[in-house]
Parts: sequence; structure tokens; C-alpha cells
Amino acid sequence: MAAPSPEPIASLYVHVPFCARKCSYCAFYSEASSGELIERYVGALLRELELVAADLRPHTIYFGGGTPSLLNLRQWERILSAMERLRVGGAAEWTVECNPATVSPDKAKLLRSGGVNRISMGVQSLNEALLDRLGRVHTRQMAFKSFDILRQAGFDNLNLDLMFAIPGQTLEVWRETLNEAIAMGSEHLSSYEVIYEEDTPLYELLHAGKVNADEDLACAMYEELVERATNAGFQQYEVANFARNSTLSSQDPTPGLPNRSCRHNVNYWRGGSFYGLGPSATSYVRGVRTKTWSNTQRYCEQLERGQRAVESSEELASLARAGETAAFGLRMVEGWPFEQFRQTTGYDLRCEWAGDMNQLAQQGWGRILPDRFQLTRQGLRFADAAAQLFLR
Ligand SMILES: C[S@@+](CC[C@H](N)C(=O)[O-])C[C@H]1O[C@@H](n2cnc3c(N)ncnc32)[C@H](O)[C@@H]1O
Ligand code: SF4
Repeated sequence: MAAPSPEPIASLYVHVPFCARKCSYCAFYSEASSGELIERYVGALLRELELVAADLRPHTIYFGGGTPSLLNLRQWERILSAMERLRVGGAAEWTVECNPATVSPDKAKLLRSGGVNRISMGVQSLNEALLDRLGRVHTRQMAFKSFDILRQAGFDNLNLDLMFAIPGQTLEVWRETLNEAIAMGSEHLSSYEVIYEEDTPLYELLHAGKVNADEDLACAMYEELVERATNAGFQQYEVANFARNSTLSSQDPTPGLPNRSCRHNVNYWRGGSFYGLGPSATSYVRGVRTKTWSNTQRYCEQLERGQRAVESSEELASLARAGETAAFGLRMVEGWPFEQFRQTTGYDLRCEWAGDMNQLAQQGWGRILPDRFQLTRQGLRFADAAAQLFLR
């Protein structure tokens, strides 16, 4: 008798490796690109989609980048119709990342009618001078205008990305941006402290002593973020992520999470499987992690020969994988319920990681409850350092 076919994968990420121009802080794989390469990329992406479609039944889809909204109407039409033909569209949550400079009414309507129901917009700041310093192509006016365009196209699930601890940003300027962004009325807010990524112009400035990183100011900004977002009715559910609780007809609520939390990201933090398509994307499918080449030319060449452009593939030892899953999941405010962690990884946090949890509890960064371990507010601020302890 033939073995039963495995459950299809329920989560799809697609990386779009192009931007209008590169921002000064960004290390994501993307390039300012010519129309010709984008056209070739779309063809390659559709081939890759065909190769994995039979193993996919996505509940969540996320087009990230780069700047997916840079693709023109015709390119989006090709992608949307291929997804329909291959029966991988129509996910309960389908997000596309947009840069405010590349949102038009026609594109917004096309995406909405093609099944996209969530937009994540990279606002970063609403201060003109800081937008300029970050190398952003959009102005504050474009952020407000694009938000209206998306609402008019029927999007009722919008995220805004903000950044804080930007060199030159005062607490006052951060408060203004926070107030204005919150007043826009999005369903979700993601807010990241600037990371000085190697090989970026901002990193060079830091190392040349031309900008300073002020840790105390960054802490004060984070406090301000948590307080203002919470007072405005958002629920924090991850270190940098806040969502409203308004109802959404297409989804059942998940206990412990606000209704408008990003299901796609929750799947990552909870150690779920996903396919990642496009250059530089990672997949995690049935215990095997693969990574695609971070080279769009090479990606296209391989797919034109009918093969996925896999750079590396590894099956992690189960304890190492469980350690990563612990570390990721602790970014969530609800922490790790012991039973859920055991079901996901096969390990008990209270055995393998008892010493680490005690250490964090003693230093005020963690809290051991009867049914779970979670980081405190202070621990969440330093979640990356806390998570390191759990890696094996
Ligand atoms: C891959 S970007 C996609 C959004 C879209 N490309 C845009 O920027 O408009 C996702 C988010 O990561 C954040 N981000 C990127 N680089 C960062 C860095 N070095 N430090 C902190 N946040 C960063 C930004 O808030 C950005 O909106
Ligand atoms: S932040 Fe967004 S728009 Fe800027 S370079 Fe990175 S991916 Fe592109």
C-alpha cells in the first residue's frame, strides 16, 4: 500500500528582491533594479511556485522584500493568476509589503481583488528629516496618502512599520511620529529599534564615530512605544508587534492573541513549517531547512533550467532545532506554554532549559508560571540576549 501523502505546508513566504533604492540601514537582500531583471524574476518565481504548488495549501501568505509593491500591474496580474491556477491563493491571511512611494489606487484594487487582504506599509518615521537620513524614497505625505488609498481599495487589515532610536531622533520627535501613526488607525503596528547591520552606510557612520547609539534613549523610546500603543487600544503580542482586537470575519480568534496579530509571523515564532520562494528565502519543511541563493541572476538561471535555486539544505539535530524554537517563541508576550512547546518540539522546557529559565527569573528578565515561561517587560526589551541562552 502506498504511504499516505504528507500534510501540505500551510504557510508561504515570497521574497521580492527589488527596491526603488536601498535605504541606509537595510541589510535585507534587495537591489535597486532594472525593469528587465524584474521581468525575468517574475518568470522564475512562477516556475518555482509550480515546483512546490502540489505541497502547498497556504493559510497564510506573505510577500516581503525588498519592495513587493514595486512590481507593476502586469507583473502582479501574472502572479495572481498563476496563484489562482495553481490553487495556492485565497489564504485566510495574505499580506503584501508596500513602500508608501509605490502604492497606486489601481495596484491596491488589483491586489485586493486578487485575494490579498492585509498590507504592511514601511512608514519608518513621519519626520521628513529622518526619512531623508534613512534614505527613504517616500515623504510623510505619501504615507498618509497611501494609507487612504489602501482603505479606499477595501483593505481593513493594515500594518504600519516604524523604527526608533534612529540617529538624530529625539524622544519628542519619536512621540510625534508615534502619535501620528497611531492616529492613522491601523489594525497593527510593528516597531523596530534600529539595528546597525554590517555592510550598510549607517553601520559605516557608526564606526566612523559620526553617529552615536544611545542605549538609555532607546530604552526610553521603547517604554514610550509600549505605553502609547497600549493606551491606544493595541495589545502587544511580541517584542516589536502590536495588534488590535477588532473582529475579522475570515478568521477564528487564536486564544491569547489579539485578532489582528500577524498569523504568518506567529507561525514562525511557534516553530511551524513554511515554504520560502524567491532569492535569499529560507524554507522550513518537515524538519529540513533550505536556503535559496541570495543572487537574483543565479536564481533566475537555475529556475530557467527547471530547478529550485537551493544554496544549502540542512536537517537540524532535534535539540538544536528545539533550542531555536524556544528562542524564537520567547519573543512572544505570552511566552512558551510548556505543553505547547513539548508538542511542537518533543522536549520539555522545564528539563533541558531549567537552569536558563531560573537564571532569567533571578535577573528579573523571566517569569516561571505554573503552565509556562515568559519574559518580563524588561526581558522583552532584551529578548535577543535572553534568547541566546536557549540555543543548543
Ligand atoms: C523588509 S522591510 C520591508 C518593508 C518595505 N520594504 C519598506 O521598507 O517600505 C521590513 C521592515 O524591517 C525594518 N527594518 C529593516 N532594516 C532594519 C534595521 N536595520 N533596523 C531596524 N529595523 C529594520 C523596517 O521597519 C522595515 O519596514
Ligand atoms: S527597508 Fe524596505 S525599502 Fe528600504 S532597502 Fe530595505 S527592503 Fe528596501
